Amino acid sequence: MLILGLNMFHADASAAIVQDGKIVFAIAEERLNRIKHYAGFPSLAIQACLKAAGAKIGDIDHIAVGQDSDANLSEKIRYAFANPAKLLNFVKLRQRKQQMRDVRELIATNIQCDPAALRFRVHHLEHHIAHVASAYYCSPWEQAAGFSYDGSGDFVSTMMARCQGNDIQVLDRVFLPHSLGSFYTMICEFIGYNKYGDEGKVMGLAPYGKDTYVSQVRDLLMTSASGFELDLEYFKPLGSNEGMQIKPDGTVELARHFSGRMAELFGPPRDPESEITQRDMDLAYAMQHCFEEVFFHLLHELHNRVPLPNLAMAGGCALNSVANGKLFSRTPFRKTWIQPAAGDEGLAIGAALHTYHAVLGYPRSCVMKDSYLGPEFTDSEIEASLKSAGLKYRKLERGPLLDTVADRITAGDVVGWFQGRMEWGPRALGNRSIVAHPGLPNMKDVLNARIKRREWFRPFAPSILEERQAEYFEHDHPSPFMLHVYKIRAEKREQLCAVNHVDDTGRLQSVARDENPLYYDLIRAFERKSGIPVILNTSFNENEPIVCAPEEAVSCFQRTKMDAIAIGPFVALKSEN
Ligand SMILES: [Fe+2]
Repeated sequence: MLILGLNMFHADASAAIVQDGKIVFAIAEERLNRIKHYAGFPSLAIQACLKAAGAKIGDIDHIAVGQDSDANLSEKIRYAFANPAKLLNFVKLRQRKQQMRDVRELIATNIQCDPAALRFRVHHLEHHIAHVASAYYCSPWEQAAGFSYDGSGDFVSTMMARCQGNDIQVLDRVFLPHSLGSFYTMICEFIGYNKYGDEGKVMGLAPYGKDTYVSQVRDLLMTSASGFELDLEYFKPLGSNEGMQIKPDGTVELARHFSGRMAELFGPPRDPESEITQRDMDLAYAMQHCFEEVFFHLLHELHNRVPLPNLAMAGGCALNSVANGKLFSRTPFRKTWIQPAAGDEGLAIGAALHTYHAVLGYPRSCVMKDSYLGPEFTDSEIEASLKSAGLKYRKLERGPLLDTVADRITAGDVVGWFQGRMEWGPRALGNRSIVAHPGLPNMKDVLNARIKRREWFRPFAPSILEERQAEYFEHDHPSPFMLHVYKIRAEKREQLCAVNHVDDTGRLQSVARDENPLYYDLIRAFERKSGIPVILNTSFNENEPIVCAPEEAVSCFQRTKMDAIAIGPFVALKSEN
C-alpha cells in the first residue's frame, strides 16, 4: 500500500511517501529546487519519493493532499460578502483552486506520465486536520489532545481536536481573520521583518525588549470564552489570498498586514534597512508575551475538553519554541509531541497518515523517532563532488573521523558536518549542520562574520546528550527536534556562553544515541576533550535552503570561511585548500 502525501501550491510545497503505514521518505521542494519556501507544485519532491520507495507513479494507490478548498466554505463566503472589495478576488482564487483539485491532471503534466497508467484515488484533507494528523499519528500515543495553529489554512487559524486510536475528532476551529499567526506576522512586519518566515528571527529579539507596550498590544489580541479575537482596526483585511501571495516563480510574498492605526499608536513602522530601536524591541517583547498568554489560554481550554497529559501539536506557530518551552509550567499538559516539520511542509505527512489510518482504517504502527527522512548519498557520490571541486581531502574510519572533528571543534574551528539522511523540517539536527564550540565567548561573532551573517540578536542552538540535559537545563522533557527553549542552569551558563541567549535560555536539541549514533558519538568525543557534553549546532547553509546534496555542501564550504568539512567519511581543511 503506497500513499503519496502532498502539500502543493502553498508555501513549503512538499511530498512524503508512506508504505504500509511507515514513512519511507519526505522532503520539501525547496531543498531540491533551491527556492526558499517554494510554493508551486512539488515535482522534484514527488520524484525523489518515488525513487526512495523504488516505485513508479503508476504504483501509487492513494494521493493525499493537505488542503481542501471546499472546507469551511460557508465561512469563506460570509467573509467575502462582508468585504465586497475582495469579492472578485475571492471568485478568481476559487476558480484557480478548483483547477488545482485535478490531481490526476497535475501529476500527468508535471511528472510527464501517461494518465492511463495512474490508478490512485485522491483524498483532500482540511489543512489543520492534516497538521494535527502530522503530530498525533507520528506520536507514540493512543490518545492525546490535538492542537494546530498558524497564520491560516483553509480559512482556519486554530484547531482543537480529540485524538483517539485511529480518529481525530475536531472540537473547535478559530476562523479567519482571527489568527495568532497573523497577529505575530503583523507586528514582525511593523518592526521591519516582512519576509515569509521572518517570525522565527523576531522571536530572538523579544528578550531584548521591556514591558513597555504589553497592555496596549493586549488590546489588539483579546482572549474570549471561545478562544481569542483580533481587534481588526489594527489589521488590513487579509483578502481571499489569506495574507500572502504566491508569485508565478513559486516564491511567497507577504501582503501587508498592519493598518494605519498601528502607526497612530506606536509611531511609524520601522524601515527594514534602519537600526533596530528600543521601541522595536519592546514591541517584539509585547508580541511574544501576548502570543503566549493567548496560547496558554487556548491550551487550558483544550485541556478542559480533553483532560489528558499528552499534547500533539503542529502548525507554523508550533515552531515558537519559546512558548513551547514554557507550556509545562503554564498549562496542565505534561508531554508534547510536536511535528518537526510543524510548518506547511508537514501537511504531506499528515495527509498521508490520515488517509492510512482514518480513511482506510489501518491500525497505528508508525512512531516517528527521528527526522532523518530525506536523501542520503553514497561515499562514491560524495567523493566525486569533492574531486570535481578540486579539493584536497582525506578518508577516515569512524573513530579517527570523530576524533579529528572533535579536535577541530575544541580548537575553535567551525566545521561543516554532512552525514547520512537529510533532516525533514526546518531544523538541522546533526546531519546537515555546522558545528562549533559552545563555550567560546567570540564564537557567535565568528560564525556570523564568516558564514551565517545573521541578525546580531539571533542565538545559536546547543545539541546536548539527552541524559545530560537536566544537568544543564531547568527542564528535562526531551526536545529531539529543537522545538523547546529552556533556561540554562546558572552554573552552566559560562560553559555554554556561545549558545546562552540574553535571557539565559537555549533552544536545545536533546540527542539520544539510538536516534543518531554518529552525532551522539561526536558530542561524546567533544566532551572527552572539553568536558562539555554539548555542541553548537547551526544549519548547514548560507542564506539559502539547507544544503541537501554533497555538491551544495562543498560549494558552501568553498564560498564561506568554514575551517573544515566532514562529509561522509571524508575531511577537507580550508588550510589545505
Ligand atoms: Fe499551516
